[in-house]
Amino acid sequence: MLKTEDASHVKVTGLIDKAAEQAICHQSQDPIDWNLPIQPPDWLSDQQYVRMVSNLIYGEKATVKACEKLQAYFGPGSYTDFLTSQIQDEQHHAHIYERYLQMLDREIDPSPEWCDLIGDCLDHHTSPVALMLAFHVLLEGEAVFLQKLIGKHMSCPLFRQMNDKIRTDEARHAAFGRVMLPELIKQEPKGLMTWARDLWFASANILVAEYLDPAIRASGMLDHWLETRWAGQEELLSGLGVS
Ligand SMILES: [Fe+2]
Ligand SMILES: [Fe+2]
Repeated sequence: MLKTEDASHVKVTGLIDKAAEQAICHQSQDPIDWNLPIQPPDWLSDQQYVRMVSNLIYGEKATVKACEKLQAYFGPGSYTDFLTSQIQDEQHHAHIYERYLQMLDREIDPSPEWCDLIGDCLDHHTSPVALMLAFHVLLEGEAVFLQKLIGKHMSCPLFRQMNDKIRTDEARHAAFGRVMLPELIKQEPKGLMTWARDLWFASANILVAEYLDPAIRASGMLDHWLETRWAGQEELLSGLGVS
């Protein structure tokens, strides 16, 4: 059972209140207009597009498992209560993406590399601090980033709206990670920066790079972009106590 600061309990209680007000799964009217047009982007193949949506579904479901593991670690209290709200959110997000795939008349088909990477993160050897770092800070942070990127570059009005709505929930989950990670690191200090770097680059390559034009990958532009983005992530993690 984790001993934590009162300040963290207060912040997490605030996030539970926000979840009750903001979570899209609790809204009396469905915030998604399912009558919006579906227009898959012309710069991705049909298979790539289905894979991208499938990877999102797989990520949502894996996050539910990470939350359940963290609940078992925390035991009863506000942290577990927040995670209960998050599990409801993630299940709802998975359901939204699944409905979208059904509207495309396609089956879920995630990248095997993504399943392996996430499976390793959920491995029973992964400690609570590593789980919080992976799922709540890195992957939730990436989800928010990718959803903003999708908003700019995806042509499909329905998909854009889904991501805009889901992003608010994900930002709350990432905020929980930023409150909890320093607490967990105090209890269980260990060098995780190299592990985090490897995980971040592997995720970025699977989730973004595989959709890029090979000429862009070969030009070194992607590597430069990833290194620049990782520098920002590393600064964030250092500020949260990761070494
Ligand atoms: Fe989610
Ligand atoms: Fe989330």
